Amino acid sequence: MINFKKEIATKIAKVTNLSKEELEKYIEIPPNSDLGDYAFPCFKLAKDLRKAPPIIANEIKENIETDENIIERIDVVGGYLNIYINKEVLIKTVLEEVAKENEKYGSSNVGEGKTAVIEYSSPNIAKPFHIGHLRSTVIGGALYKIYNFLGYNTIGLNYLGDWGLQFGKVIAGISLWKDEYDFENDEMGSILKTYIRFNQEEKENPELTEMAREYFKKLEKGEPEIVKQWEHIRKISIDNYQRTYKLLNSKFDSYNGEAYYNDKMAPIIEELRNKGLLKESQGAQVVDLEKYNMPPCIVVTSAGTTIYATRDLAALKDRINKYNFDKLIYVAGSEQQLHFKQVFKVMELMGYEEYVSKCAHVPFGLIVDRDGEKIGSRKGNSVFLEDILNESIDKVKNIINQKNPDIENKDEIAKKIGVGAIIFNDLSNSRIKDEIFDWDILLNFQGETGPYIQYIYVRTRSLLNKAGYIPKIEEIDFTRLKEKEAISILKTIYMFNEVIQNAADKNEPSILARYLIDLSQNFSTFYNEHKIITEDKNIQDARLFLTYAVGIVLKSGVELLGMEMPERM
Ligand code: ARG
Repeated sequence: MINFKKEIATKIAKVTNLSKEELEKYIEIPPNSDLGDYAFPCFKLAKDLRKAPPIIANEIKENIETDENIIERIDVVGGYLNIYINKEVLIKTVLEEVAKENEKYGSSNVGEGKTAVIEYSSPNIAKPFHIGHLRSTVIGGALYKIYNFLGYNTIGLNYLGDWGLQFGKVIAGISLWKDEYDFENDEMGSILKTYIRFNQEEKENPELTEMAREYFKKLEKGEPEIVKQWEHIRKISIDNYQRTYKLLNSKFDSYNGEAYYNDKMAPIIEELRNKGLLKESQGAQVVDLEKYNMPPCIVVTSAGTTIYATRDLAALKDRINKYNFDKLIYVAGSEQQLHFKQVFKVMELMGYEEYVSKCAHVPFGLIVDRDGEKIGSRKGNSVFLEDILNESIDKVKNIINQKNPDIENKDEIAKKIGVGAIIFNDLSNSRIKDEIFDWDILLNFQGETGPYIQYIYVRTRSLLNKAGYIPKIEEIDFTRLKEKEAISILKTIYMFNEVIQNAADKNEPSILARYLIDLSQNFSTFYNEHKIITEDKNIQDARLFLTYAVGIVLKSGVELLGMEMPERM
């Protein structure tokens, strides 16, 4: 596909003495296409050339080699060059590329030979898999697919929180109240009830905390009975999570959680000691980070136990050896920002700065209701992610029953829309913002939602079905797509790869989500203004192929976000 930005930069480079790489960075896309398809702000050159921007702009305009295949017209407006590209060439390059690549359109091989490791979801076992885990699961899942589409070798890690005092609590709770719950028929539910009750009673009864500590110590020491119990709880929990992962289509290449690093902590503590980084502070072993304006990173507590940070240090070392990654992305809540800064700094001090520079913590905000209150925060009434997903599917099923009761595969369609709505809602705003969870917003088929994009896609499919064919690219008369609504769609489709690349560079799936909304709205406008199935066969073919191209991009884009696309609804 022709890279217009590069072509323009090359032409400007010939008449200035700046490199085309640098010039390319300056080229902008105006917010309004009346100001050109591209714009070049000449004030960026004013300092170097010692001339006023409008003078530079005029000089470039006069001297630039005109080549009608790329640039159709240039206007000078103030210090800007507003550049209009040749639309016929744009149409041809975009549609031919779609015809050639189909589902692969927008992908690239920039990541070839590189490994991107993405750690996401990572729930804490024995605690409920509640709605708070949605964000990491969904953001990480999207990044996994996006990097893959860009040619990276991608590895998805689910760093289960499968170690820690919470197991002492559950095991102690079970020993106390086993007969009060129905462990036989509802084991997972009973484990959770035990855990919640333990946390509540512990507040009035500190002996319980002591008891939990004792059990956890036994677990750490490897007492066979307790280890067996832990293994069982871990297995039950993972089996239980699979139902949620199946609904969300989440896949992982490894479930090595915190427990996996038990025997890898002693060596890292040893290494820290040998490198002279450990010091004693109030009975604990810590790495002093005062110089870096951070509290000390505790590696061994005063009780002699290791903690969360110790395991993360061991895990990072292990991942360096195992994956030799080009990127290691941790998708975890923004409340863990300090934790990751500390871990990264300690690894840097140990001499792993080259790897640390490839690590990133990708944080995100909370899930809140319409009034800004955190969802599922109220004591005892945690909101299970699985229940929420099923509720969404049921709500969609109700809508389908009202609007299109006879449609085939109702359950499957309801699942794609119901789950998709929740995924899209999570990804549609910049991740660091709190996510508003509101049924009326996320299931609004006319809003900026997942169902809206799916609906537009289904429109494209039914148009193609109605016509009964997908036109052949060789037969398309590109001059038939003149309308500004069509051009605006083509320009959007043209940007697809750049958008995906940008989403990866910023680890921000919302960039892709917003793009899909734009494309859907573009298509909707076109469709409302112009007939696609029409008497003139040439016009019909051109418009139908455009429709086909929109469908291809919407489907790929939605799938990159981890959603599924229904063919009918
Ligand atoms: N299990 C943690 C939690 O639910 C998230 C893990 C984040 N990743 C890490 N390497 N510490 O809060």
